[in-house]
Amino acid sequence: MAHGRFITFEGMDGCGKTTQLRVLAADLRARGLSVTETVEPGGTEIGQQIRRILLDPANTAIHSRTELLLYFASRAQNVEQVIKPALAQGGLVLCDRFTDSTLVYQGCGRGLPAATVLQLDGIACEGVRPDLTVLIDIDLETSLARARKRNQHNDLSESRIDDEGNHFHESVRAGYLALAAQEPERFVVVDGRAGVVEVTRRIAEALHDRV
Ligand code: TYD
Repeated sequence: MAHGRFITFEGMDGCGKTTQLRVLAADLRARGLSVTETVEPGGTEIGQQIRRILLDPANTAIHSRTELLLYFASRAQNVEQVIKPALAQGGLVLCDRFTDSTLVYQGCGRGLPAATVLQLDGIACEGVRPDLTVLIDIDLETSLARARKRNQHNDLSESRIDDEGNHFHESVRAGYLALAAQEPERFVVVDGRAGVVEVTRRIAEALHDRV
């Protein structure tokens, strides 16, 4: 059976991964490759509904285990409906966030055990794992400055997770860098402060070497 490639994009809010994912998808399509773009949480109609619950700033009462299960509920649907079928046809799947986000946000940020996160990953993803993960690394200052800029035209915060304090986001960043150090063959780490064009160039270079 044909098996495509699964590439995920990770990083803190404002790191620019969504922009980079789109640029890469357009570039790969221009080369004639079959590319599917998806996002977590979301990516499917059901996932979009779950996403609204997860990110609604009013939902402060969500327990961390509820939050964890909802991220994986969205992911299970995305894996079944979008990711597995595209990979089975030999396509490239680019996903904006995946289980590494859960490991760092719910694991490192909220303090849930990594073993629990991985156990749920086994249930939700049934062995679908990224072949390559692009981590766009930015420091907390850059992340906050970009979030402020993005939100300056509306009074509302963009999401419930954005409302977490500095300690939470420092843990997230440290968690990402630790994951990348653990699995250097899967991760490509790019400095997100380098500017859009330069970050694109570095990602393309790394992909050319690996995919
Ligand atoms: P989103 O608006 O997609 O953020 P970004 O544009 O930075 O990707 O919102 C996703 C938020 O959900 C983001 O703050 C990270 C968080 N998140 C988790 O906490 N756990 C997860 O498993 C995933 C996929 C995302």
